[in-house]
Amino acid sequence: MTRTIARKIDGIAVSKQVKDKVKSEIEQRIAKGFRQPGLAVIIVGDDAASHVYVSHKKKACEVAGIRSMAYDLPAVTTQQELMDLVSELNNNSDIDGILVQLPLPEHIETEDIIEHIATHKDVDGFHPYNIGRLVARIPTLRSCTPYGVMKLLESIGEPIKSKHAVIVGASNHVGRPMGLELLLAGATVTTCHRFTPNLVEFVSQADILVVGVGKPGLIKGEWIKPGAIVIDIGMNRLANGKLTGDVEHDAAAERAAWITPVPGGVGPMTVAMLMENTLYANKTYHEPDV
Ligand code: GUN
Repeated sequence: MTRTIARKIDGIAVSKQVKDKVKSEIEQRIAKGFRQPGLAVIIVGDDAASHVYVSHKKKACEVAGIRSMAYDLPAVTTQQELMDLVSELNNNSDIDGILVQLPLPEHIETEDIIEHIATHKDVDGFHPYNIGRLVARIPTLRSCTPYGVMKLLESIGEPIKSKHAVIVGASNHVGRPMGLELLLAGATVTTCHRFTPNLVEFVSQADILVVGVGKPGLIKGEWIKPGAIVIDIGMNRLANGKLTGDVEHDAAAERAAWITPVPGGVGPMTVAMLMENTLYANKTYHEPDV
């Protein structure tokens, strides 16, 4: 039997296309006299992985021509201090987007902070208003990771309509909006989570499989339906320092038609969509009916 090896979905290449387009649109807008888009990036505490992600976001802003304003706060920052900073940024007309890097320290009520961000500056797309817009099929600011996955699917030119999409992971910021995006695109959607018995039964039916749990090797290669599209959102640091996803990549690639690598798949797309969302927020500020 000849084995087919899945084609790689190249998140580095697709994210570059998105970022290049954002950069050139910003250049054109600045030439027309619009002000530079601005993104406030807030990080609380010293979680090493979060600092790495934030440094990628700041670098991407610099390249795209977005002014990033960094707020590096100590882990002892109180709920009230963070709320006050968000209020101040909500009222700052030079700032189009507010990003509060998660996770926040345990003493902070994350959902209260997210709900305090002005909905039109919520470039993460985490605010219940923006999630609600996606539920109601009138999306505005869309969660960056699921939105990035949709761009990756678009890039391979495979139809989504009528496909069975199975999502593993039902988090507020990834799994749930991912299901809504795929539903909006016409897929039949199944969402699996920690209480789903017999995960293999669902995974093996997936034409499109999207996994975002944070458990290395959770999805076995032999579970994959032949010809499936496999999107691995997992980003796990192994003891040897290597990054790996939630799917057994090499074994899955022997059955899938398309697969994302980790790293170099979904990760760069999250940053690219943040740039796109910041430009969108900037445009709607200047031209409310864009
Ligand atoms: N932590 C991990 N991913 C993300 C993200 O996309 N946005 C924010 N704000 N925090 C995160």
